[in-house]
Amino acid sequence: MEKNRETFGSRFAVIMAMAGSAIGLGNIWRFPYMVGEYGGAAFIIVYIVASLVLAMPIFFAESVIGRRSGSGTFGAMEKLAPGTRWKWLGFLTVLSPIIILSYYSVVGGWSVEYLFKSFEFAGMTEGDVTGFFGKFISSVQMPILAHTAFLLLVAGVVLGGVRKGIEQFTKITMPILFVLIVIIAVYGLSLPGSGKGVEYLVRPDFSKLTPSTVTAAMGQAFFSLSLGVGTILTYASYMKKDENILASGLGTAFFDLFFAILAGFAVMPAVFAAGIAPGAGPGIVFETLPFIFNKMGAASQLLSTGISFLFFFTILAAALTSAISMMEVGVAYLTEEKGMRRRTAVLLITLFAWVVGILCSLSFGPLSGVRILGDGIFDFLDKLCSNWLLPLGGLLFTIFVGWKMKPSDVYDEFTNGGTLKANRAVFKTVLLLIRFVAPAGIIAVFISLLI
Ligand code: TRP
Repeated sequence: MEKNRETFGSRFAVIMAMAGSAIGLGNIWRFPYMVGEYGGAAFIIVYIVASLVLAMPIFFAESVIGRRSGSGTFGAMEKLAPGTRWKWLGFLTVLSPIIILSYYSVVGGWSVEYLFKSFEFAGMTEGDVTGFFGKFISSVQMPILAHTAFLLLVAGVVLGGVRKGIEQFTKITMPILFVLIVIIAVYGLSLPGSGKGVEYLVRPDFSKLTPSTVTAAMGQAFFSLSLGVGTILTYASYMKKDENILASGLGTAFFDLFFAILAGFAVMPAVFAAGIAPGAGPGIVFETLPFIFNKMGAASQLLSTGISFLFFFTILAAALTSAISMMEVGVAYLTEEKGMRRRTAVLLITLFAWVVGILCSLSFGPLSGVRILGDGIFDFLDKLCSNWLLPLGGLLFTIFVGWKMKPSDVYDEFTNGGTLKANRAVFKTVLLLIRFVAPAGIIAVFISLLI
């Protein structure tokens, strides 16, 4: 069976597939919202550091496990550590992406709604534009309907086997998304009052740094790179033996960071120009961009509508590839480990994500009074996954590669049997990061959260 396992054709294909999972709402929606919530430039700097010393080692660790074993998380643990308790790591890696899928799909739904709303932004009054989001998410039917539509789309792709087609498709939509974000950023920067937003993004105020800033930055790094649940592990299992783990990891991280920073520049200057509070929360992108499209509408209604529509369309494509990668983890587990039929597995996961997603959606409206440890349902689940479950999964991956696998095997995998010169040169540093720095860093953040 193993011999026939598909592999990616080229390094570019590997990076594109990994970037397809990594780049999504995490970059466009979550990153600007975190930047605003945790104080701007200082957060961005902590985020970059956390990406380098905490997230990248886990990216490499997952890649090493995936390619070494040639299978998903469960199979990998069975192969590399048969009969041990490491198989429990498999459960964690099935649970978190399905929870994430639930609320991710709610935000995916917001994009669906905004896709159609694109035709109205140019003609609305300024007050209606900025006020729309609040009214929309606090209502009951529309957000749930949109969430349902997004989730069905994901399920349809996973079930219909058209995943390859979608991934091909995003090779076209990603560059378009990139161009659109640049246009939006440039336009946003031209608005009066946007200068403060630029300052907010580039001038760090470290006095506002708290342990929760560091936690949020770490969580965002894991979320954005799809780490800690075996997504990258699974993709790496499709990598050819002569592919370069170091280069594809750095390439993916580069694209991912690039998109996030760009989104920050598309959103924050406009936030200040519109007089929205930077800490406005999860809806900030959806409040700010229509403001830009509304302003653009004064110049040309058609252009504004076109850019808005294309923008939400391409975001939807990016969100779809990420959501697919989440559902696949669960489907692979239920079919391969539990012998379930693919259709049953998709149905079960979809149902779970649908119900939990509805609760998340309602937590902005009728269920806003339900608080778990001080947060609404949506925020609680997002924090639970990003700040706890993903780093926990990542921690276990680093311990596995750093302490359980034979160093010579890790070396072999990371340097392709010693043939890659640059990889040989950085191997000691990477191993140091995997063994000590990343685990200690994650544990330190956990402890700071508890006290
Ligand atoms: N990284 C994706 C984004 O930025 C989301 C994502 C896809 C993800 N797969 C994941 C997050 C697995 C955590 C775990 O939108």
